Amino acid sequence: MRTYLCFINYAVFCIYLNLSPKWLGVFLKNILVTGGAGFIGSHTVLCLLNGGFNVSVVDNLCNSSFESITRVESISKKTVVRHCIDITDDVALANLFQSGSFDVVVHFAGLKAVGESVSKPVEYYNSNVYGTLCLLRQMIDFDVKKLVFSSSATVYGEDAPTPYVETLPRGVTVNPYASSKAMSERLFEDFCIAQPDMSVSLLRYFNPIGAHSSGLIGENPLGVPNNLMPFMAQVAAGTRERLSVFGGDYPTPDGTCRRDYLHVMDLADGHVKALASLETPGCKVFNFGTGNPHSVLEMIHAFESVTGCVIPYDIVGRRNGDLAEFWADPTKAKNELDWVATRSVEEMIIDTWNWQILNPKGYEI
Ligand code: NAD
Ligand code: WQD
Repeated sequence: MRTYLCFINYAVFCIYLNLSPKWLGVFLKNILVTGGAGFIGSHTVLCLLNGGFNVSVVDNLCNSSFESITRVESISKKTVVRHCIDITDDVALANLFQSGSFDVVVHFAGLKAVGESVSKPVEYYNSNVYGTLCLLRQMIDFDVKKLVFSSSATVYGEDAPTPYVETLPRGVTVNPYASSKAMSERLFEDFCIAQPDMSVSLLRYFNPIGAHSSGLIGENPLGVPNNLMPFMAQVAAGTRERLSVFGGDYPTPDGTCRRDYLHVMDLADGHVKALASLETPGCKVFNFGTGNPHSVLEMIHAFESVTGCVIPYDIVGRRNGDLAEFWADPTKAKNELDWVATRSVEEMIIDTWNWQILNPKGYEI
């Protein structure tokens, strides 16, 4: 009778939360989010809070500010514990693990500019590889066995056939940023072999863009943006004069590069879904993309038609290191995580533009 009542309560609770029972296994746990003040991290923290998780953020604020977290708190009406710590600081990290009890680590912290990584390899390997090692060491010492890692489509290398599918081997990486992601993936794989009760999900993001629909949080590049969407938004806003389209002679339908752009809120939702994959041990890999590539010119024309702005642009020479096109095969994430990117390119642009006009100086007040 008692078991029966427990089962009824459990089922009612599931319906109330609109969650499948499998989700309850990961519900209401303590998550440590490294790099949580950044672009993808802040959106993911919001989704985690909305999913009922307790969130602590660790960030050294080298490319962000805790204003993003203050805004996440105002959207969610929930609180986040903040720690301004560099993940390469072993002592500070040990104190943090000592003071909290974390069930899962979602690891975003790291440096991410491909071009900069070529001129600052030491900084990139230090933050991205040594920082990951420091984190892993504390996880071992404090018996934390589950981790989600921000990897990148860049680990497929230069010669992989499209669409990229997880069964492909990692390719040859051609810049320190890409190599740091490939090394970190390898580190987690080796570690999971040595510790068979550890679960790690490596999420390979394609091209995340967009912002939360409130316009309160979004991408906040410091200085001149490297990426297409923030640069285009700044041209539309008049902060920059013209957009340079890097290459018009690629073997693609309109001669410009094609990429798999996905909405950052879809990506953030995907992290919550990826927590379920940690219920079984081992190291798993998932592509996070839409499966539909768009060219640079298509993105410009979509931006103009959605916002009514004109984007002055020039087609210039190719950018070093750019591939003509790549996109994800997202089937595995659909089948195993029940995750599909649902937001359209138009929504990505509307939300980017809303964020841009509401926050012309980003989080600077
Ligand atoms: P971001 O720069 O906005 O966020 C990274 C955060 O990590 C920042 O808040 C930064 O201050 C923090 N950080 C950096 N080094 C740190 C350190 N040593 N200790 C503590 N905090 C540190 O970048 P993002 O776009 O949100 O990217 C998040 C993660 O996703 C990164 O690991 C990035 O490589 C990966 N990724 C990003 C993209 C993309 O296009 N944005 C694509 C694929 C993978
Ligand atoms: C997209 C397209 C450019 C700016 C990068 C990293 C990748 C991942 C995501 C982290 C390309 C073109 C761009 C501009 C342009 N990050 N472009 N004018 O290069 O696909 O991916 O971010 O893991 O590792 O390499 O993204 O937004 O820079 O470029 O024409 O001013 O837009 O040539 O074809 P990319 P992006």
